[in-house]
Amino acid sequence: MTRVDAVGDGIYRIGTWWPEYGITVNQFLIDDDRPTLVHTGTFQSYEAVRKAVAQVLDPRRLAYVVVPHFEADECGGMGRFVAEAPEAVLVCSEVGAGINLSGWDYRGPVKGVRDGHVIETGRRRLRFLETPHVHHWDSMMVYEETTGSLFPADLFIQPGEQPAVVSEDLGREMCTLYREVGIFGGDKPVLQTVDRLERLAPHWVHPMHGGSMTGQTLGRYIHALRTQPFAYEGKVFGRMLPT
Ligand SMILES: [Fe+2]
Ligand SMILES: [Fe+2]
Repeated sequence: MTRVDAVGDGIYRIGTWWPEYGITVNQFLIDDDRPTLVHTGTFQSYEAVRKAVAQVLDPRRLAYVVVPHFEADECGGMGRFVAEAPEAVLVCSEVGAGINLSGWDYRGPVKGVRDGHVIETGRRRLRFLETPHVHHWDSMMVYEETTGSLFPADLFIQPGEQPAVVSEDLGREMCTLYREVGIFGGDKPVLQTVDRLERLAPHWVHPMHGGSMTGQTLGRYIHALRTQPFAYEGKVFGRMLPT
Protein backbone atom coordinates (compact mmCIF):
# COMPACT_ATOMS: atom_id res chain seq x y z
CA MET A 1 0.00 0.00 0.00
CA THR A 2 2.87 2.40 0.78
CA ARG A 3 5.25 3.06 -2.09
CA VAL A 4 8.47 4.99 -2.41
CA ASP A 5 9.34 6.93 -5.58
CA ALA A 6 12.24 9.23 -6.35
CA VAL A 7 10.69 12.54 -7.42
CA GLY A 8 13.85 14.63 -7.55
CA ASP A 9 17.59 14.51 -6.89
CA GLY A 10 17.64 12.94 -3.42
CA ILE A 11 13.93 13.67 -2.89
CA TYR A 12 11.60 10.73 -2.30
CA ARG A 13 7.82 10.59 -2.18
CA ILE A 14 6.36 8.06 0.25
CA GLY A 15 2.76 7.65 -0.87
CA THR A 16 -0.15 5.67 0.59
CA TRP A 17 -3.60 5.36 -0.95
CA TRP A 18 -6.42 6.06 1.50
CA PRO A 19 -9.56 4.66 -0.14
CA GLU A 20 -11.82 5.83 2.69
CA TYR A 21 -10.95 9.45 1.90
CA GLY A 22 -10.24 8.98 -1.81
CA ILE A 23 -6.78 10.57 -1.62
CA THR A 24 -3.15 9.56 -1.27
CA VAL A 25 -1.26 10.68 1.82
CA ASN A 26 2.37 11.52 1.07
CA GLN A 27 5.50 12.20 3.04
CA PHE A 28 8.70 13.51 1.47
CA LEU A 29 12.17 12.44 2.41
CA ILE A 30 15.15 14.62 1.55
CA ASP A 31 18.29 12.49 1.57
CA ASP A 32 21.18 14.75 2.57
CA ASP A 33 23.90 15.06 5.22
CA ARG A 34 21.13 15.97 7.63
CA PRO A 35 18.17 13.97 6.31
CA THR A 36 14.76 15.60 6.52
CA LEU A 37 11.25 14.18 6.58
CA VAL A 38 8.46 16.53 5.50
CA HIS A 39 5.14 15.41 7.14
CA THR A 40 5.09 12.18 9.14
CA GLY A 41 1.74 10.55 8.35
CA THR A 42 -0.68 9.63 11.11
CA PHE A 43 0.15 7.95 14.42
CA GLN A 44 -1.27 4.68 13.05
CA SER A 45 0.77 4.79 9.85
CA TYR A 46 4.10 5.30 11.65
CA GLU A 47 5.40 1.74 11.11
CA ALA A 48 4.59 1.77 7.40
CA VAL A 49 6.15 5.21 6.90
CA ARG A 50 9.19 4.24 8.95
CA LYS A 51 9.66 1.13 6.82
CA ALA A 52 9.45 3.28 3.69
CA VAL A 53 12.02 5.76 5.06
CA ALA A 54 14.30 2.78 5.86
CA GLN A 55 14.32 1.79 2.17
CA VAL A 56 16.29 5.00 1.55
CA LEU A 57 18.18 5.70 4.80
CA ASP A 58 18.34 4.73 8.44
CA PRO A 59 15.46 6.56 10.20
CA ARG A 60 17.77 7.04 13.19
CA ARG A 61 19.74 9.47 11.01
CA LEU A 62 16.82 11.90 10.60
CA ALA A 63 17.91 15.40 11.57
CA TYR A 64 14.71 17.33 10.86
CA VAL A 65 11.06 16.35 10.98
CA VAL A 66 9.09 19.16 9.35
CA VAL A 67 5.44 19.63 10.29
CA PRO A 68 3.80 22.27 8.05
CA HIS A 69 0.69 22.45 10.28
CA PHE A 70 -0.72 20.43 13.13
CA GLU A 71 -3.20 17.93 11.77
CA ALA A 72 -2.97 14.18 12.27
CA ASP A 73 -1.88 13.24 8.75
CA GLU A 74 0.90 15.82 8.87
CA CYS A 75 2.16 15.19 12.39
CA GLY A 76 0.77 11.98 13.96
CA GLY A 77 4.12 10.17 13.77
CA MET A 78 6.27 13.09 14.97
CA GLY A 79 6.89 11.94 18.52
CA ARG A 80 8.23 8.53 17.53
CA PHE A 81 10.31 9.71 14.57
CA VAL A 82 12.02 12.32 16.76
CA ALA A 83 12.41 9.95 19.72
CA GLU A 84 14.11 7.33 17.57
CA ALA A 85 16.61 9.72 15.96
CA PRO A 86 19.04 11.20 18.52
CA GLU A 87 19.82 14.27 16.38
CA ALA A 88 16.27 14.98 15.23
CA VAL A 89 14.58 18.33 15.75
CA LEU A 90 10.94 19.00 14.97
CA VAL A 91 10.48 22.04 12.75
CA CYS A 92 7.17 23.88 12.58
CA SER A 93 6.05 27.48 12.29
CA GLU A 94 6.68 29.65 15.33
CA VAL A 95 2.91 30.11 15.52
CA GLY A 96 2.38 26.34 15.49
CA ALA A 97 5.01 25.83 18.19
CA GLY A 98 3.26 28.38 20.37
CA ILE A 99 -0.42 27.62 19.90
CA ASN A 100 -0.23 23.86 19.40
CA LEU A 101 2.97 22.05 20.23
CA SER A 102 3.70 23.84 23.52
CA GLY A 103 0.38 22.64 24.92
CA TRP A 104 0.67 18.97 23.91
CA ASP A 105 2.62 16.04 25.35
CA TYR A 106 5.44 16.35 22.81
CA ARG A 107 8.75 16.27 24.69
CA GLY A 108 11.41 16.44 21.99
CA PRO A 109 13.40 19.39 20.67
CA VAL A 110 11.56 21.90 18.53
CA LYS A 111 12.47 24.78 16.27
CA GLY A 112 9.76 27.32 15.44
CA VAL A 113 10.47 29.16 12.19
CA ARG A 114 9.31 32.41 10.65
CA ASP A 115 8.97 33.40 7.04
CA GLY A 116 12.38 33.56 5.38
CA HIS A 117 14.19 31.37 7.88
CA VAL A 118 16.52 28.85 6.26
CA ILE A 119 17.85 25.47 7.38
CA GLU A 120 20.84 24.04 5.53
CA THR A 121 20.86 20.25 5.42
CA GLY A 122 24.15 19.83 3.51
CA ARG A 123 23.61 20.20 -0.22
CA ARG A 124 20.08 21.50 0.27
CA ARG A 125 18.61 24.72 1.68
CA LEU A 126 15.11 24.67 3.13
CA ARG A 127 13.41 28.06 3.21
CA PHE A 128 10.15 28.44 5.08
CA LEU A 129 7.13 30.43 3.94
CA GLU A 130 4.51 31.35 6.50
CA THR A 131 1.09 30.93 4.89
CA PRO A 132 -1.46 31.58 7.67
CA HIS A 133 -5.04 30.59 6.90
CA VAL A 134 -4.06 28.64 3.83
CA HIS A 135 -5.95 25.83 5.56
CA HIS A 136 -4.80 26.52 9.16
CA TRP A 137 -3.67 29.49 11.24
CA ASP A 138 -0.23 27.90 11.80
CA SER A 139 0.29 26.76 8.19
CA MET A 140 3.65 27.08 6.50
CA MET A 141 5.29 25.70 3.36
CA VAL A 142 8.82 24.59 2.59
CA TYR A 143 10.86 25.64 -0.43
CA GLU A 144 14.08 23.80 -1.21
CA GLU A 145 16.11 26.44 -2.97
CA THR A 146 18.81 24.45 -4.78
CA THR A 147 16.34 22.26 -6.70
CA GLY A 148 13.46 24.77 -6.76
CA SER A 149 11.18 22.29 -5.00
CA LEU A 150 8.06 23.50 -3.19
CA PHE A 151 6.33 21.45 -0.50
CA PRO A 152 2.92 23.17 -0.25
CA ALA A 153 1.23 20.67 2.12
CA ASP A 154 -2.51 20.67 1.31
CA LEU A 155 -2.45 23.24 -1.49
CA PHE A 156 -2.61 21.85 -5.08
CA ILE A 157 -3.85 18.43 -3.96
CA GLN A 158 -5.56 16.08 -6.39
CA PRO A 159 -8.16 13.49 -5.42
CA GLY A 160 -7.84 9.88 -6.56
CA GLU A 161 -5.02 7.37 -6.54
CA GLN A 162 -2.50 9.43 -8.45
CA PRO A 163 0.92 8.32 -9.68
CA ALA A 164 4.08 9.82 -8.16
CA VAL A 165 4.12 12.48 -10.89
CA VAL A 166 1.01 14.00 -12.46
CA SER A 167 0.84 16.03 -15.64
CA GLU A 168 -2.95 15.92 -15.98
CA ASP A 169 -5.04 19.02 -15.29
CA LEU A 170 -7.14 18.04 -12.29
CA GLY A 171 -7.79 21.64 -11.25
CA ARG A 172 -11.57 21.27 -11.46
CA GLU A 173 -11.49 18.11 -9.32
CA MET A 174 -9.20 19.88 -6.84
CA CYS A 175 -11.60 22.83 -6.43
CA THR A 176 -14.61 20.51 -6.09
CA LEU A 177 -12.81 18.55 -3.37
CA TYR A 178 -11.87 21.74 -1.49
CA ARG A 179 -15.50 22.97 -1.56
CA GLU A 180 -16.94 19.61 -0.46
CA VAL A 181 -14.42 19.03 2.34
CA GLY A 182 -14.34 22.66 3.44
CA ILE A 183 -10.64 23.08 4.26
CA PHE A 184 -10.19 26.74 3.25
CA GLY A 185 -12.14 29.26 5.33
CA GLY A 186 -11.90 31.91 2.63
CA ASP A 187 -10.25 32.51 -0.70
CA LYS A 188 -8.19 35.65 0.06
CA PRO A 189 -5.22 34.13 1.95
CA VAL A 190 -5.06 31.29 -0.58
CA LEU A 191 -5.08 33.55 -3.63
CA GLN A 192 -2.46 35.85 -2.05
CA THR A 193 -0.25 32.82 -1.51
CA VAL A 194 -0.91 31.58 -5.05
CA ASP A 195 0.36 34.94 -6.38
CA ARG A 196 3.45 34.62 -4.23
CA LEU A 197 4.10 31.05 -5.36
CA GLU A 198 3.71 32.07 -9.00
CA ARG A 199 6.43 34.67 -8.50
CA LEU A 200 8.57 32.06 -6.76
CA ALA A 201 8.24 29.90 -9.91
CA PRO A 202 9.17 26.51 -8.44
CA HIS A 203 10.55 23.86 -10.80
CA TRP A 204 8.77 21.13 -8.86
CA VAL A 205 5.78 21.03 -6.53
CA HIS A 206 5.21 18.17 -4.11
CA PRO A 207 1.66 18.27 -2.72
CA MET A 208 0.82 16.15 0.28
CA HIS A 209 -2.12 14.47 -1.44
CA GLY A 210 -1.91 13.40 -5.08
CA GLY A 211 1.16 13.42 -7.30
CA SER A 212 4.11 15.77 -7.69
CA MET A 213 4.08 18.16 -10.64
CA THR A 214 6.41 20.37 -12.63
CA GLY A 215 6.24 24.14 -12.47
CA GLN A 216 4.61 24.08 -15.91
CA THR A 217 1.79 21.80 -14.76
CA LEU A 218 1.37 23.97 -11.67
CA GLY A 219 0.14 26.78 -13.93
CA ARG A 220 -3.07 24.83 -14.65
CA TYR A 221 -3.80 24.41 -10.95
CA ILE A 222 -3.13 28.09 -10.29
CA HIS A 223 -5.53 28.95 -13.10
CA ALA A 224 -8.20 26.69 -11.56
CA LEU A 225 -7.90 28.40 -8.18
CA ARG A 226 -8.19 31.82 -9.81
CA THR A 227 -11.24 30.94 -11.89
CA GLN A 228 -13.27 28.45 -9.85
CA PRO A 229 -14.81 28.63 -6.37
CA PHE A 230 -12.92 26.54 -3.81
CA ALA A 231 -13.53 28.16 -0.41
CA TYR A 232 -15.86 26.96 2.34
CA GLU A 233 -19.51 27.11 1.34
CA GLY A 234 -21.03 25.60 4.48
CA LYS A 235 -20.00 21.99 3.85
CA VAL A 236 -17.69 19.77 5.90
CA PHE A 237 -16.88 16.47 4.23
CA GLY A 238 -19.95 16.91 2.04
CA ARG A 239 -22.26 17.54 5.01
CA MET A 240 -24.16 20.83 4.86
CA LEU A 241 -24.17 22.61 8.20
CA PRO A 242 -26.97 24.89 9.39
CA THR A 243 -26.51 28.58 8.72
FE1 LIG B 1 -3.89 19.41 6.53
FE1 LIG C 1 -2.83 16.87 4.58
